[in-house]
Amino acid sequence: TRPLKVALLGCGVVGSEVARIMTTHADDLAARIGAPVELAGVAVRRPDKVRGGIPAELITTDATALVKRGDIDVAIEVIGGIEPARTLITTAFEHGASVVSANKALLAQGGQALHAAAERHGQDLYYEAAVAGAIPLIRPLRESLAGDKINRVMGIVNGTTNFILDKMDTSGAGYSEALDEATALGYAEADPTADVEGFDAAAKAAILAGIAFHTRVRLDDVYREGMTEVTSADFVSAARMGCTIKLLAICERAADGESVTARVHPAMIPLSHPLASVREAYNAVFVEAEAAGRLMFYGPGAGGSPTASAVLGDLVAVCRNKLNEATGPGESAYSRLPVSSMGDV
Ligand code: HSE
Repeated sequence: TRPLKVALLGCGVVGSEVARIMTTHADDLAARIGAPVELAGVAVRRPDKVRGGIPAELITTDATALVKRGDIDVAIEVIGGIEPARTLITTAFEHGASVVSANKALLAQGGQALHAAAERHGQDLYYEAAVAGAIPLIRPLRESLAGDKINRVMGIVNGTTNFILDKMDTSGAGYSEALDEATALGYAEADPTADVEGFDAAAKAAILAGIAFHTRVRLDDVYREGMTEVTSADFVSAARMGCTIKLLAICERAADGESVTARVHPAMIPLSHPLASVREAYNAVFVEAEAAGRLMFYGPGAGGSPTASAVLGDLVAVCRNKLNEATGPGESAYSRLPVSSMGDV
């Protein structure tokens, strides 16, 4: 089988980790997909800043030329922001590539148009990494719960602000000290205003609400209040009431069952509530569905490796689709696993 060619657009905290895992787990990925995957090019703005053993001949500053090559099967967009990411993604579709993206801002703002472009060109657009890092959330909402009726999606979807609020609460750290630490750990956005002012969480809320309620929710539709005004004194008052403070995203179906609301704001949470114990950069999301009841998704919500895990899961999925397209659905990758590789549990 010919290798599937992957273009990596962006090589920062997430991209460099994607490249590393693609190299170190190449055999496992090939076995799960049913064909090898090959890194065909890595587009970056600053070649001198590229980390971690990427062969120099793969690095380019011309992302457009890379996606226009015509032999790229999948483009992984981990640049972030609206442009040039949007144009690169649509160019990739036009040139026969599916796209895996971690770009919440773009998907919240222009998701509909990107889905339409993908469909027009017969390509996939997957973006599990755009919401809540490593936590599988997009596919469970879109697929596993597709037969149910979701009424509410609520939780902590920004790791940076949870990290800051947690530090302020438990160690009495100041806001800027905690933000610096979150940035150093690779949790914060390039411009952390997106985190602390709630734009990042609002983008994620828009994406989740759109999928959960089968409707169109844009970033501008989400009420947004950041956490920059939360002070140490607020934590003292909250503690007196047996509470802590978290930045929550809440997406709900209105009582009429038709309209949908989405909002992001700091909220007092009783210490007995499971969300109160979500520490550091972890995320947790509750989904309330009519038949399923209440589900909780919990895990690392930010950082290079967790986000790369979600990107690679999508990469495997879109590569499998590419192969099925070429050959028709065949033997599943699962049935190719030798029994001896399953180990003991
Ligand atoms: N800045 C984001 C966060 C990264 O802190 O959650 C993951 O989307």
